[in-house]
Amino acid sequence: MAFNNIYSGKRVLLTGNTGFKGTWLTTWLTMLGAEVYGYSNGIPTKPSMFEVLHLSGRIHHRDGDIRNREDMIAYVQEVHPDFIFHLAAQAIVSESYVNPFDTITTNVVGTASVLEAIRTITWPCTCVLITSDKAYDNVEWIWGYRETDAMGGKDVYSGSKGAAELTIKCYWKSFISSMPNIKLGVARAGNVIGGGDWAKDRIVVDCMKAYSQHETVEIRCPESTRPWQHVLEPLSGYLTLGWYLFEGKSENGEAYNFGPRAEQTKTVLDLTRDLAVAWGINPDKAVKITGNVPFREATLLKLNCDKALAYLHWHSTYHYDLCIRAIAAWYKAYYVDKAEDMYALTVCQIQDYMQEAAKQELAWAR
Ligand SMILES: NC(=O)c1ccc[n+]([C@@H]2O[C@H](COP(=O)([O-])OP(=O)(O)OC[C@H]3O[C@@H](n4cnc5c(N)ncnc54)[C@H](O)[C@@H]3O)[C@@H](O)[C@H]2O)c1
Repeated sequence: MAFNNIYSGKRVLLTGNTGFKGTWLTTWLTMLGAEVYGYSNGIPTKPSMFEVLHLSGRIHHRDGDIRNREDMIAYVQEVHPDFIFHLAAQAIVSESYVNPFDTITTNVVGTASVLEAIRTITWPCTCVLITSDKAYDNVEWIWGYRETDAMGGKDVYSGSKGAAELTIKCYWKSFISSMPNIKLGVARAGNVIGGGDWAKDRIVVDCMKAYSQHETVEIRCPESTRPWQHVLEPLSGYLTLGWYLFEGKSENGEAYNFGPRAEQTKTVLDLTRDLAVAWGINPDKAVKITGNVPFREATLLKLNCDKALAYLHWHSTYHYDLCIRAIAAWYKAYYVDKAEDMYALTVCQIQDYMQEAAKQELAWAR
């Protein structure tokens, strides 16, 4: 029984449920038997995985803005959730250069508003708040960042995530740590990739769109390295954290890193070429390097995930090759095979991932 079956029959509130991670998490939670309640300010992309999977028919959903404190509180009171996963954010780095103020208000004030809503909870509730690896003060060193390293951020998106962390910490210390009914954890993960993402300025999305139209993909910083991981990796971490907190097996009020295996730190060029091979096209013809970097993004950021291994018995599941194959298969089903039931296909991909984790005897997958 995955996650000791604790999500079955539970009311789970997800902010950001219409986004990329939110859609995968919603699908997984429905498979686990949870009753899912979403709260998001509309559908962020066109197409969107939320719509492609017809998730609005499977869950309860409320359109709303997390910055609206009163509405956030009212929704939490109405739903009476057993679990809250907070994922809503302005999550696009390039957008933070266009709309810095919105990025700050959504990611910082929005998080404060979710914390305000948590403060009103009088029943047992487990809350997992999602930030980012970019919350760390990136000093561009070669070592992985540990949970005890400083928060920071030199660009607006990173700063907004660092500030969200500080907001969570001061709410925790000032108010929530003295609420015996609340279990709270913070989850930090890096770039995720997977089927169903259509957000702008994300390299996998650009590749899949281009390859599906027999076009080359243009890349602007081929040597940039990212610790690529499939979207299901951090989601398995979030669900494990929720489970451990719920059962009192993990310390309350702590942050955890969820990152990929070390060998998954590949360059953008490697990734685009490997996706081309998985799509079935010649990688030499699939990628064009333009070398034009339109905004400044920090070049190296790795997470040390020893804490998640030691306390949550979590480590990432997929090797790079399996991750790449799963992504190409998802988009091929959508673009080439025009599969009618993308929900079923997504469920299959989650089942494959769970089987792989069970083979590796990960605690959550037993
Ligand atoms: N995708 C990644 O590679 C990545 C990496 C690290 C961290 N994260 C973090 O994970 C979380 C989810 O990311 P994602 O990739 O699914 O993002 P996404 O952009 O796909 O989805 C964002 C979600 O938040 C909602 N949202 C945005 N502003 C809102 C507001 N003001 N009020 C209510 N809802 C709002 C959107 O409607 C959408 O449902 C975010 O906190 C993001 O910063 C993502």
